[in-house]
Amino acid sequence: MIVILFGAPGVGKGTQAQILADNLGIAHLSTGDAFREAIRGKTEVGLLAKHYVDGGHLVPDDVTARVVEEAMANPTYSKGVILDGFPRTQNQAQALETMLAKSGKVIHMVINLDVENDIIVQRLLARGRADDTEEIINNRLSVYQQETAPLIKHFMDLGLLVHINGIGTITDVSDRILSAVISKG
Ligand code: AP5
Ligand code: MG
Repeated sequence: MIVILFGAPGVGKGTQAQILADNLGIAHLSTGDAFREAIRGKTEVGLLAKHYVDGGHLVPDDVTARVVEEAMANPTYSKGVILDGFPRTQNQAQALETMLAKSGKVIHMVINLDVENDIIVQRLLARGRADDTEEIINNRLSVYQQETAPLIKHFMDLGLLVHINGIGTITDVSDRILSAVISKG
């Protein structure tokens, strides 16, 4: 099963992707985590991605798609994947669809978490990751609006999009997500 956790920075994609992955018994893949790990390990991808991640800009599509394709070749993902933070552009969506078509897989559903910007900013400032400063959060939010939000229409047109209210406790939100996944079958 391939499920995409979609939404702006700080809506809870990572938190909910992990819970859903545990519930479904499949693995979770976060491109943000993959880039942070590559940056820590000073790999070729890490050296390339650092400047973008530090500033809250998108890492170029070709690099991002390659990271996902290489990761998904791992047997960890043979039963499926909960994708968190990918795709984020039209090109990435196309790359994912091509990648999946090669192995006869399809996207099961796209869960769009909705949270208002002022709550997002509060959550991220409280977390305090290196890219959680007010300036970089604002940049991430505007990159999301310009480059990523247009994919909502793309997934809606494909009949894959489900909107979930991301406000409430973590359990409130995970219960909503699980019901949506179960009712989709
Ligand atoms: P990434 O790591 O994906 O960051 P993001 O999209 O900005 O999202 P976050 O991880 O900040 O938030 P989240 O939605 O996962 O929420 P979380 O569960 O952590 O990407 C980082 C960077 O990598 C990008 O800026 C870019 O440079 C690069 N990158 C990544 N993917 C890319 C791609 N596809 N293409 C190009 N570049 C890419 O929750 C946030 C906080 O809120 C946590 O502290 C959490 O505990 C808390 N929280 C969660 N749920 C609740 C709740 N219900 N109530 C209260 N608090 C909550
Ligand atoms: Mg995350």
